[in-house]
Amino acid sequence: MKTELKEKPRAVDLASLERQVKEMYRAVADEPHREYHFEMGRGLTERLGYPVADLDRIPAQAIESFAGVGYFFDLAALRPGETVVDLGSGSGTDTFIAALKVGPKGRVVGIDMTDAQLAKASRLRDEAGFAMVEYRKSYIERVPVDDASVDAVISNGVINLSPDKASVFGEVARMLKPGGRLAIADIVTEKHLPEGVTCNADLWAACIGGAMQEDDYRAAIEACGMNVVAIVPNTAYGFISDSARGATGKWGVKSVSLLARKPG
Ligand SMILES: C[S@@+](CC[C@H](N)C(=O)[O-])C[C@H]1O[C@@H](n2cnc3c(N)ncnc32)[C@H](O)[C@@H]1O
Repeated sequence: MKTELKEKPRAVDLASLERQVKEMYRAVADEPHREYHFEMGRGLTERLGYPVADLDRIPAQAIESFAGVGYFFDLAALRPGETVVDLGSGSGTDTFIAALKVGPKGRVVGIDMTDAQLAKASRLRDEAGFAMVEYRKSYIERVPVDDASVDAVISNGVINLSPDKASVFGEVARMLKPGGRLAIADIVTEKHLPEGVTCNADLWAACIGGAMQEDDYRAAIEACGMNVVAIVPNTAYGFISDSARGATGKWGVKSVSLLARKPG
């Protein structure tokens, strides 16, 4: 796969950012018990609001590497038979939860650029027999999914990592059927981040440096023709390293769940 992330005015080094993000999330897949800036695993999923009954029905090793930031399946309201795309599917937690909701007649496509995450999610899918789940290696800025073919796009803790969020939201609008919805959790900020933070690939890979100011984030979604209908703070989510917590206090770095619709 060629590196095709577009250059943006923020001066973070894109090649080094991609390397760092891939290395961070390779480790999240392969070494989930290491120390990270962020919390992971089953305890986090339960605190964010994932129903225990759902978690008990999906592979425990996927949940071990869960690095999401919120719960949005209540907003997504997935129905049996629907087609769902998960942007940045990681080790697969949300693809498996989505599969429980859409059932055997539905389809879930997980998109990720990191080989170790795709390998782990695919192995767990095969072992647990989630035949309706498929993974595709790709950037979320250019997604190999047909136009107007998807009922719901989901994503958890990923879009903040993209240096080209306008392309990501453009792809969401392109893939969704009329009336389709975007249901995600992501990191945003209350204040605009200073350049010292946005140019730091380390902080970016830790889900802080790339976080967009909340009103700008909403505007970027609406600029692609979707209507934002709900933004809900995930107060149960918090960063755990000292440096990440410092940023949270200074710039209001926080997790939100969001629902948007493409007009029908
Ligand atoms: C914070 S993890 C979240 C994974 C998963 N959603 C979860 O909740 O556990 C971010 C994931 O997005 C992927 N990712 C980040 N930027 C990406 C991009 N531009 N294109 C494709 N995948 C990306 C990473 O490889 C990683 O697996």
